[in-house]
Amino acid sequence: MKTFRSDLKKIRKRARDKMRDGAVTGAYKADRRRVISVLNEVLATEIVCVLRYKNHYFMASGIHAQPVAQEFLQHANEEQQHADWVAQRITQLGGEPNMNPEGLATRSHSEYAGSGSLESMIREDLVAERVAIETYSEIIRWLRNDDPTTRRLVEDILKMEEEHADDLANLLTTLAPR
Ligand SMILES: [Fe+2]
Ligand SMILES: [Fe+2]
Repeated sequence: MKTFRSDLKKIRKRARDKMRDGAVTGAYKADRRRVISVLNEVLATEIVCVLRYKNHYFMASGIHAQPVAQEFLQHANEEQQHADWVAQRITQLGGEPNMNPEGLATRSHSEYAGSGSLESMIREDLVAERVAIETYSEIIRWLRNDDPTTRRLVEDILKMEEEHADDLANLLTTLAPR
């Protein structure tokens, strides 16, 4: 086994080579381009979720609307936070966050779905969250240990999407008991 010293020499040399790659070093084991492209799909998913929740927030009306509208607004703000985290990670990896509205819905995993009754909006949001939970879980499995930082980021987002899905399922039960 090589001594740590000699390894450290190599690491120091590698850190100087391609210094402008910033956070991406020789230790990066994932396919950077593929990761950037997958993160751009996540970014599109988050932006579509912001738009859908904002639409639902403004359109929520009726006797039960107030608490539900507040939940929509909170989710919208959290999806925006996710979008910002993802965009920042894309730039760390040397990519460009794709904010182009053209093709946004195609790049997104979840669908837009405009307003309707309070119950139907909650249903659509719950479906979108469940889609995101499935695709993000797959991304986490796909990344394995090749890019731990991106994986942890997607894990943090996944945790919040699961909370969103749980909130919505509870709202649905309150509003429309089975
Ligand atoms: Fe999100
Ligand atoms: Fe969510």
